[in-house]
Parts: sequence; structure tokens; C-alpha cells
Amino acid sequence: MYTNTMHTGVVGTQWGDEGKGKIIDFLAREHDIIIRCQGGNNAGHTIVVDGQRFPFHLIPSAVLYPDKVCVLGNGMVINPRVLVEELSRLESKVEQHAKIVISSRAHVITSQHVQEDVENGKHLGTTGRGIGPAYRDKIIRAGTRMLDLQTFEEYKEEARILMPFVQDTSLFLYDALQQGKRLLFEGAQATMLDIDHGTYPFVTSSNTGVGGFFTGTGIFVKQLDVVGVVKAYTTRVGTGPFVTELLDSLGDSLREKGYEYGTTTGRPRRCGWLDTVVLRYAKRINAIDRFALTKLDVLTGLSEVKICDAYLFEGTEMKEFPADLKLLDGVTPVYTTLPCWTEDISRCRTFGDLPTNAQKYVCKIEQLTGVQVSFIGVGPGREALIVR
Ligand code: IMP
Repeated sequence: MYTNTMHTGVVGTQWGDEGKGKIIDFLAREHDIIIRCQGGNNAGHTIVVDGQRFPFHLIPSAVLYPDKVCVLGNGMVINPRVLVEELSRLESKVEQHAKIVISSRAHVITSQHVQEDVENGKHLGTTGRGIGPAYRDKIIRAGTRMLDLQTFEEYKEEARILMPFVQDTSLFLYDALQQGKRLLFEGAQATMLDIDHGTYPFVTSSNTGVGGFFTGTGIFVKQLDVVGVVKAYTTRVGTGPFVTELLDSLGDSLREKGYEYGTTTGRPRRCGWLDTVVLRYAKRINAIDRFALTKLDVLTGLSEVKICDAYLFEGTEMKEFPADLKLLDGVTPVYTTLPCWTEDISRCRTFGDLPTNAQKYVCKIEQLTGVQVSFIGVGPGREALIVR
């Protein structure tokens, strides 16, 4: 057991796609219930079954553990057709899987929401899955919740299949807490895409950080270990500011090496150096206790590695991420440059196994953020993880 804290929350610290699924997969072993709290099928993770890769968007990442419960919380927006597809794929491909519970209070994404998002979401680079329009209807009190799914003519068949899974998940989780169960909150998207704290309006329509854990489930836990997932470099899909973006061949090579293409839309991701202004902001917003650093192996073999520690604006150094995006247009990143490593790190299983320069990169992140790096991903496989 890596910590004694009862419950754990996993948040993305950048613009999503940090590799949260792999960290959830690892942490799920020590928890009983894994909960998605917000977002919908704009998220995506890949599950490998018998060497075949299957994308999932709604069902939590820990679904392959037969002894666990996976909850789709009230803060989610659910496209019933996509969920039915995922459930039937699961039934046909996996012999045993986690029990699935869906909140009666989660909101429904309709085909109109999807159509509207495809037509109007382009300037924001949305995933076109109807997320924004569904949350808008929820907020203006014109939405439909899962408990009323059968009232939709278009979802009669889906309602028949899904209703047996639908219940009051707030109550379910409350009872589980009384029984001493350990909960794992699975954040989708990331801090910089948070509707309140991200790079508005280039954000998603939900609270992607710790705030979303509680409003999105209807329970509150007083002891929570917060793990912030950090990709060893930065990526972003869609439009919006990105101070450390690499628009040159180095950015292209990170994209190819890290296979930086969206799980949901297949879009190429924009790539750049690690930005600790962003990480410190994510730490503050989410009270992050530890970092999980992923895809460190992707940096192997570069001539040098850079970490952004501040932004320079009209000759003044900025250490805090600003709310005003217009300001970001005029900043340049201040970098610390470190030597890279050439050794293959994919078989390293302890911190000591890592080449000195890789260790120095990790320590520099810790020094610039004040957060301990407790997990280090060194390859795509489940086992390619260093736990400190
Ligand atoms: P929406 O969530 O589809 O409305 O998209 C809003 C913004 O969030 C767009 O820039 C998307 O590319 C981004 N986004 C949404 N979900 C994810 C995700 O799971 N990973 C990365 N980016 C995402």
C-alpha cells in the first residue's frame, strides 16, 4: 500500500490526455469503488483485452476488475447510445468485469445536443459529442436526467437496457462509506480544461478538478489523497493558449513518439515542453498531494530537455497562471534546460534504475513545484511504472 489515506482522487494537471487511465488502473487495486464524476464521452481511454485494443469513453477505467464497482456519477452527461454500445462490447469481450452503477441524476445527451455541438463547437475545437449543449440544458434547468430516460422516444431501447443499472448513486456511495469501502475518484479531462479554473472559454463544460468530485457524486470525504497526473511534456487538443507549444520538428517528433492523437476524435495533439507554471496552478486548485509523472520514456534520446518555470511579460517575470488569456498572447516562456538521457528506461522499475539525467529531470519538477513525484510511467504497458 503506497499510502494510508482512505480515499484517492486522480486529476489531470494539464490539458488532458496525461495518461490518467494507467494510474487509475494501478490505484484501483487498492480501492473498492471507482467513480467518474463529470464529463461524458469526450473522455477516452483504451482497454487492452487479449492483445486487442478497445476504446471506452464513459465506463470508468477500472472496469476490468471483477471485484470492483464502477460508478457513473450524477455530474456526468451520458449519451445512452454510446453507453449501451460500451456495455455490450464489454459483455461480449470480457468474461468478468466490474459491477456498473449509473446515477439516476446524471443528465442525458440527446442527438440534438450532438448536432448542435458539431455545428457550433468548431471555434473552440470541442470533441463534437454534445457535452456543452447538454450541460447548458442542465444549468438552465431544461435537461433530462437518466431517471426519465424512457420518456425519450429516441431512447426507448436504450432505456430498456440501461434502467436496471440506474439508481441513486449518492445513497449507494454513502452506504459504501459507512461500510468502510475505499473510493477512487476518476477525474476526466484536466485542470486547464475546467469550466471555472481553466483557459476559459477554451475549456470543457464541467469542473474537472477536486471540486467536481463532490458535486459530481453527492458525497463528501474528509480524507482524500489527491494524485495529479502530469505528462512529462505538455499536449493540448483543440484551440486555446499553450505557452510552451513547440511548432517545429521537435513538436512533431514528440507527437509521433508519444503517439499524441486523440482517443476520442483521432485529432493530432499539439505538443510542447513541460510547464510548471501550469503545474503549480493545478497543485493549488486541487490541493495535490503527489504527482504521477507519465510518458517519461518519450523524452529519451532528445538532445536536451526544457522545463518552463515562469512567463516573461513585458520584461516582468510571471510565476502565476493568469485568468486573462489576452495576457498569455504576449508572454514568452522562461526555461531551465537540462541534459537528456539516451538509455532505454522502459525496464526501470525503481527510481535508482533511472539514468542520472532522468532522475535530475524528475527532481527538478519536484523542486519547481514543491510536489513529490510518487509514480513514474516509463512505457505504455501496465507494468512500466515506478512507484516511489
Ligand atoms: P468538449 O469537452 O467536447 O466540449 O471540448 C472542449 C475542449 O476540451 C476541447 O478543446 C477539447 O479538445 C477538450 N477536451 C475535452 N475532453 C478532452 C479529453 O478527454 N482530453 C483532452 N481534451 C479534451
